[in-house]
Amino acid sequence: MLRTHALAAAALLASGAVSSYADSAASSLEARVEGLLGRMTLEDKIGQLNLVPFSPTFSRAELENGRVGAMLAVTKPHEIVEMQSAARRARHGIPLLIGLDVLHGLRTIFPVPIAEVASFDPELAKETARHAGREAAAIGINWTFAPMADLARDPRWGRMNEGFGEDPLLGRIFTRARVDGFHEAGLATTLKHFAGYGSALGGRDYDMGTIAPGDLFDSYLPPFKAGIEAGSDSVMSAFLSLNGIPVSANPAMLTGILRDRWRYDGFVVSDWNSVGELLEHGVAKDPAEAARKALLAGVDMDMYSGFYAAHLSDEVKAGRVPEAAVTEAARRVLRSKLRMGLFERPDPDTSRVDPAPPGPEARELARRAARDSAVLLRNDGVLPLPPGKRVAVIGGLGQSQRDLVGPHAAMFRAEDGVSVLEGLRRRGGGTFSYVQGCDVFCESDAGFAAAEQAAREADLVLAVLGETNEMSGEAASRARLTLPGRQGEFLDRLVATGKPVVLVIIAGRPIELGPVINRLGAALMAWFPGTEGGNAIADLLFGDADPAGKLPVSWPRTVGQVPIPYDLPPTGRPHDPSNHYTYRYADEAITPLFPFGFGKTYTEWALSDVELPKRRLSREGRLEVGATLRNIGSRPGRQVVQLYVRQLHASRSRPGRQLKAFEKVAVAPGEARKVALRVPVSELGFHLDDGTYVVEPGRYQVFLGTASDAQLAGEFEVLP
Ligand code: BGC
Repeated sequence: MLRTHALAAAALLASGAVSSYADSAASSLEARVEGLLGRMTLEDKIGQLNLVPFSPTFSRAELENGRVGAMLAVTKPHEIVEMQSAARRARHGIPLLIGLDVLHGLRTIFPVPIAEVASFDPELAKETARHAGREAAAIGINWTFAPMADLARDPRWGRMNEGFGEDPLLGRIFTRARVDGFHEAGLATTLKHFAGYGSALGGRDYDMGTIAPGDLFDSYLPPFKAGIEAGSDSVMSAFLSLNGIPVSANPAMLTGILRDRWRYDGFVVSDWNSVGELLEHGVAKDPAEAARKALLAGVDMDMYSGFYAAHLSDEVKAGRVPEAAVTEAARRVLRSKLRMGLFERPDPDTSRVDPAPPGPEARELARRAARDSAVLLRNDGVLPLPPGKRVAVIGGLGQSQRDLVGPHAAMFRAEDGVSVLEGLRRRGGGTFSYVQGCDVFCESDAGFAAAEQAAREADLVLAVLGETNEMSGEAASRARLTLPGRQGEFLDRLVATGKPVVLVIIAGRPIELGPVINRLGAALMAWFPGTEGGNAIADLLFGDADPAGKLPVSWPRTVGQVPIPYDLPPTGRPHDPSNHYTYRYADEAITPLFPFGFGKTYTEWALSDVELPKRRLSREGRLEVGATLRNIGSRPGRQVVQLYVRQLHASRSRPGRQLKAFEKVAVAPGEARKVALRVPVSELGFHLDDGTYVVEPGRYQVFLGTASDAQLAGEFEVLP
């Protein structure tokens, strides 16, 4: 049975009770919004601001009385239809937003977002978002709590995996790509968690953050701005207290920046109970004050706390909240609902109880995404694997389907997933034994000996180590970045057998590897690769596909170095090994283990003929850098040519280098490709503390290479 809102509207028409908003062709969006608002009581408007979690026993009367505007975590089509029908029976028949965290898939799970950023291929991220969106839309979900647009410099913060890493340009590009992809599937999007959530002190989730105004505008906000320019329907206000004020009660952030500066006309939804948490933050003494402060700051919709539903009406009646503020919040919600065509949408097919299992097309996309996301960290020539080897697959993650998908795996079913062992066996081309040795928590060495024995009997060890789904994600901060439990010691023992060891890392963040990295045959960062992870890893290990991923985050040597992003400004005492009193650690190198943008391939490369045709540029001009990229190895490969810029002298200290452009190219062995990277001079500026954007004239350096340690390519000048 397919019922549509259009049919419902037709029925209303016939009954003579039609409202002008139902007739999408008849009037402009704003007229429809106002037409609807004009008929609504204060209670009706407050209802639109109320986002509630679903439960099978949820009061239908609340919906029928128009006291709910949106619902989350309802995932069965028949329940969604039931909720929507109840909402439509309310006086104004306003459909619900049905929200879910569809981050990297619904039933088919793609690599976690940070992994896809490692592909340096925004089209890929758009495609996977579109697919995830379609799976979600098919069961009636119309709103995703994604993408996460939070810059993350500290891998201790478990949510790093949900975003794009440490670089604002990648943040802008990938946030936009995901918004576009979800929109193409008909899903409304949420940019979260506005803003600065990734700055939590010590990487401790929910902790306060401190961000200097220039850094906020230059680094943390641009991905949100890009998402808003792409038309994101909503923005989620963060949990944290930033620069002393909980963001969910901060008018300067939610109104000053979002509305006044950026002219954002969608709505702001709180994070889960972040209105309620204003009590714990100590900025509201009771729920009524929390509701008042959040609404007046610019939180339009309250997720979970119920404080709006319980208190806003009284706050208005007591004159503490102007009714116009409630009307404005409802206006934003209704505008988004109308703009996304919610009133005209068909209900999902209720004969489907569950989303369909991944079909061949979904699997192919998931496999490609996982291949393109993996980063080859080390290879002493062991990879690609030659045929006919006896491979001992070892480690707690070797046979796992569930832990290959990572957090927020929506409606994933373990039976859909392909483990590493299964991927290898399906591919064939060797013999593959499996011994676990120890599980991911690895609290005991009881199984080490059996694993060492298996290693000795094999030609090569494939150690699949790392984190479970729960070890990264929300509330999964880690004080240590080592392999969990005794896995590090276990890896040392495997290496000590003398057999070549290939390490496959399954994790949502960089992992501290220690000295063992130099004794590994190879190391592949697979992140949480998703449903097709095992097949993709087999493709890469055997060279059926070539690794081409690049790190979207600097990989620390040890946790004591973090945060260690690549784009910090220089110090007054740049590192000088011959001078003690310069930038250094007494007990560790001052550089990360692997720089941002780094990733090896199976072939060798040479970058030559670097040219900057124009070296004197006006502010309206464009920097152009050309070069020749040659594949000088014997295998085909893909490489990401990266362009970094540094402004040498400015009114404030500028980053030592900043990614400004990149191009991913495929080159056959022995062949060369010309690359041409272009950056508008308007992209070379920065923000003053008051948010003003300036491009200052002066000397700039360009670095071109295949990682952030790229070589100096030349200098240019921006004219006054
Ligand atoms: C998370 C959000 C998420 C929300 C709804 C919160 O705990 O911080 O990212 O969208 O829950 O599931």
